[in-house]
Amino acid sequence: MDNLVIVLWATSLAVLLLSTLIISQSWKTRRGSERTQRLPAGTRGWPLVGETLHFVSCAYSPCPERFMDKRRLMYGKVFRSHLFGSPTIVSTDAEVSRCVLQSDARAFVPWYPKSLTELMGKSSILLINGSLQRRVHGLIGAFFKSSDLKSQITRDMQCYVQESMINWKDEQLIHIQDETKNIVFQILVKGLIGLEPGKEMQFLKQQFKEFIAGLMSLPVKLPGSRLYRSLQAKKRMVMLIKSIIEEKRRAKSSKNNNNTCLRPPRDVVDVLIDDPSDQLTDDLISDNMIDLMIPAEDSVPVLVTLAVKYLSECPLALQHLVEENMQLKKRREGHLQWSDYMSSSFTQDVITETLRMGNIISGIMRKAVKDMEIKGHFIPKGWCVFTYFRSVHLDDNHYEEAYKFNPWRWKDKDMSSCSFTPFGGGQRLCPGLDLARLEASIFLHHLVTNFTFGHVDVNVIVGFGWVPLDCHVLFEIWGGSDRSPHQYILCHSDYSSWKSTFSSLFSALAVSWKPQLDEAQFGEEIKHGGLDAHHSNIAALLRDHKASCDIS
Ligand code: HEM
Repeated sequence: MDNLVIVLWATSLAVLLLSTLIISQSWKTRRGSERTQRLPAGTRGWPLVGETLHFVSCAYSPCPERFMDKRRLMYGKVFRSHLFGSPTIVSTDAEVSRCVLQSDARAFVPWYPKSLTELMGKSSILLINGSLQRRVHGLIGAFFKSSDLKSQITRDMQCYVQESMINWKDEQLIHIQDETKNIVFQILVKGLIGLEPGKEMQFLKQQFKEFIAGLMSLPVKLPGSRLYRSLQAKKRMVMLIKSIIEEKRRAKSSKNNNNTCLRPPRDVVDVLIDDPSDQLTDDLISDNMIDLMIPAEDSVPVLVTLAVKYLSECPLALQHLVEENMQLKKRREGHLQWSDYMSSSFTQDVITETLRMGNIISGIMRKAVKDMEIKGHFIPKGWCVFTYFRSVHLDDNHYEEAYKFNPWRWKDKDMSSCSFTPFGGGQRLCPGLDLARLEASIFLHHLVTNFTFGHVDVNVIVGFGWVPLDCHVLFEIWGGSDRSPHQYILCHSDYSSWKSTFSSLFSALAVSWKPQLDEAQFGEEIKHGGLDAHHSNIAALLRDHKASCDIS
């Protein structure tokens, strides 16, 4: 009898457990399928890699819009996909993207590929959230807006640009993006940590090059791997920056002890160590000085390079720009202030139009921390949202003849609309936007008031987030200080950046590639304008590869 009771008990317990399991499982499945039904239309692509290869190969093709355009047509402006290892909702809708950018960390947090987060570290301004992000962003933003810093940058930039242009020799190959990069890096490092050009600056430059090479690498930290070498380079930079911070703290406390008047901050480190909160440790400050270089280092050089390309294709705009800058030069007899550059309206419109068409940062990724619904589009917790600015900036519904370079469209046009977001928006709006405009205006002023340029041959590749886009620009310019007909060939892309761009592209696609040119041949190809043929071969290789793995 006892045994029977036990058996009955055990059986009813088992039945109870089983039915609970079945009910919860079916509830989960129903909930899962309800959630799937609520998702925007779209497809996941291949297992694991999703649609990443397709997106990347389109970006490197002559028709980078194909990926987005095709899906917008099939699914609408907001669709689901699987990119860079994460299920993703792609937004090419200006208002949806604005809502995402305006949301705070209770809804969305920044998302970057693993190699990038490894390199940036947890305390990076690009990754932190909440009050600490607002504090660091506010301090840096206010300093970047200060007229003292803008005056310092104007003085330095004018000096470096002139020094650089004086050295441009007849028939010499000039790498325009690299020239600007060199100048902008020195300005940036001085603005961040107060370092002047010299041995330490050179050291930082070398280490930063090594560091940034790992931004889009495999997330493997084994000795010898790309990521490991980049992390080692970061360590070396942090050591140097920490010693500068310690020096500044020592100088500050000895001034405090002697009751000497404290001078206003001259660089970002000064601003951050003056902050009374104990959250801003030396580790956080030194890490962030390097992380600040990531968005700043290549974006302005690319902006300048693209502006030159668009201007050379639009002679009327170039003529207007020359006239405005020549007048400014005469009026100020060469002694220009930062406000002169920033109030040159046509120059600013040229920069604005370049930002719209060039899409230096093509989009931003965020991760949803809870289920969200925006304008009727469901975004599940844990999914990424890719706010893709490029499609909005090149949409005919927002910009008439969107693919036409037309700086005049900005005359009296409101720039604060949600269909123009080259610098992002919301709490993470780029704090360096004024600096970027100022630096680009100064470079363009000196270029167009000293040189005349002609034919341009360009090959632009779309960038992803902070990974710089690549554009090789070959063009001839005539002029020089005496405006006599010298000939120059300018090309941004040196051999190592050309090689590393294509190597990382092919390794991202898991295809082995060996450059068919060595450094000397590359130089010769550029001199004789033959690089295009080589790039066509690469484009053909990519097309073949894409065709072999294209499923949609
Ligand atoms: C043409 C040049 C530039 C473009 C197109 C650009 C674009 C952007 C964009 C789109 C964001 C938003 C990122 C997000 O929402 O997650 C951003 C953030 C940022 N930018 Fe820029 N940027 C440029 C130049 C600069 C410069 C020169 C600096 C520094 C001197 C700078 C420093 C930063 C920083 C620190 C952030 C992160 C802000 C935060 O998350 O709180 N940028 N930038």
